[in-house]
Amino acid sequence: MTDKSFHSRASFSSQDLAYLKDFDLPSSFDSKIGKILVTGASGYIGGRLVPQLLVRGYHVRAMVRGASPEYGGLWPQAEIVAADVLDTNPEPLEKALAGIDTAYYLLHSLNLGPKEFQAADIQAAINFRKAAEKQKVRRIIYLGGLGDIRGSLSSHLRSRIEVAEELKKGKVPVTILRAAIIIGAGSASYEIVQHLVRKLYILPMPRWAKNKCQPIAILDVIRYLVGVLEVPETTGKHFDIGGKEVLTYEKMLMVLSGVLNLKRVFVSVPFSGTRVYAYFVSLLTPVPAPLTQCLMEGLKNDVVCLEHHIKKYLPFEAMSYKEAIVRALTREDQDRVYTRWSDAYPPAHELALKLHELKNRPAYSTFCSLQTQKSASSLFKSLCHVGGKKGWFQNNWMWRLRGLVDRLLGGVGTSRGRRSHASLKINDVIDFWRIEDLQEDKRLLLRAEMMLPGRAWLEFGITELQGKRQLSLVAHYDTKRLRGKLYWYACLPFHHIIFKKLLMDIEARSL
Ligand SMILES: NC(=O)c1ccc[n+]([C@@H]2O[C@H](COP(=O)([O-])OP(=O)(O)OC[C@H]3O[C@@H](n4cnc5c(N)ncnc54)[C@H](OP(=O)(O)O)[C@@H]3O)[C@@H](O)[C@H]2O)c1
Repeated sequence: MTDKSFHSRASFSSQDLAYLKDFDLPSSFDSKIGKILVTGASGYIGGRLVPQLLVRGYHVRAMVRGASPEYGGLWPQAEIVAADVLDTNPEPLEKALAGIDTAYYLLHSLNLGPKEFQAADIQAAINFRKAAEKQKVRRIIYLGGLGDIRGSLSSHLRSRIEVAEELKKGKVPVTILRAAIIIGAGSASYEIVQHLVRKLYILPMPRWAKNKCQPIAILDVIRYLVGVLEVPETTGKHFDIGGKEVLTYEKMLMVLSGVLNLKRVFVSVPFSGTRVYAYFVSLLTPVPAPLTQCLMEGLKNDVVCLEHHIKKYLPFEAMSYKEAIVRALTREDQDRVYTRWSDAYPPAHELALKLHELKNRPAYSTFCSLQTQKSASSLFKSLCHVGGKKGWFQNNWMWRLRGLVDRLLGGVGTSRGRRSHASLKINDVIDFWRIEDLQEDKRLLLRAEMMLPGRAWLEFGITELQGKRQLSLVAHYDTKRLRGKLYWYACLPFHHIIFKKLLMDIEARSL
């Protein structure tokens, strides 16, 4: 991991500011609090907490695994640092924690899948505890999961509790917040529920659908995270946090179908194997199998607040489940999804070398281009609409078929879609791609995250050529394996059809 740390000088857009000020936090800014470290800053919750702390005036260091300058645009004035808590070399993590007053611990390794995440999460907590102690951090704030420790918990919920216990073993006092499902535009659990209700007319209800849950709105989670920071009496204590009401999973689906005005039939079924359900859920929703498996295993447990001490320190009324989903739906309709579960990197991200980081250029490539009179900005705008709900234009079925094969093999497929249909930023996903580089009116570079016997990129370029614009596409492919080479040659005939047509469509759709 390279040591990259820098300060961002950008400022928030007026739209972002309006969103951030919408939080109406129940506590106030405390000037005595020193620099704050937010780990998991590239994740769903960390990505929302960083701007909130910045807007309140705190000095924030955002910790990500793959630092790059684009984070500067997202988090104005934040210091950005790269460290991996599982790194055997403790130095980058210790550097990230140096001079820190309070550190938020917002990490998990669920993406590694059911076999690996538990051990990884414990190791991560040990490494973090030791480094925080060495750097004399004053306080840690951890967001974990709800669940009654006396019962037989799923490995995911148990792991969240084990992480809390591990962090507490050190000298640094830990504030623990424990939440059930978090509801907000872009949250994995909410996207699962929404896709199921939208796609299935008949919803099978296994026994565990009657289990109880206390979902909480993302807005309230951020309020509590900032609130405990600003109320020093919460130091070293643990709190259950939840929304206004306790519901069964079945009721949650019913409320959502009511809000969406969709008539759905709920049928009780005797089969309750969460693994099988998780596999089908991963095929029906954008959330990949390793994540659905870990999350759905937790459905076997009731996840409700067992105490309400937090109300003593942060007395505000949390949103109801219905209010939270209406808010999430509104955000989606407004195309203002601030962070999404897919923002976190997929497993083996450290192997995801960027195109410019390769020692040699990839051995295989396909190039196609067209010339046009259209302006660079209109071409770029049109180009930035590929994927997601609109798909890949004329040959969309071929992309979808490739996505389906990927899903069946346990990959991410094309159903991850996009965070926003109007705007893109570096690191956003577009179906089975992730944006590696985005240069306005010039270049869009996508890195493949589908299952492949090699590494692939799609590079769109807009250049000036003898007074005209050239719109080009290069497919780069890097492999040394025979299987990889066979794959490349098998795809080659399709590339020529798909890519040429794609460029023509992008050109035709630009105004
Ligand atoms: N979302 C929910 O519904 C929910 C509910 C209850 C509790 N929580 C808790 O909230 C916390 C944050 O969850 P989230 O939903 O924001 O998760 P998320 O979106 O999946 O993000 C996870 C974050 O952890 C980072 N990470 C993973 N392994 C790491 C490592 N080895 N070193 C450094 N960073 C690493 C990821 O970085 P990369 O981008 O590099 O992968 C990412 O930023 C977790 O403790 C979770 O248990 C979440």
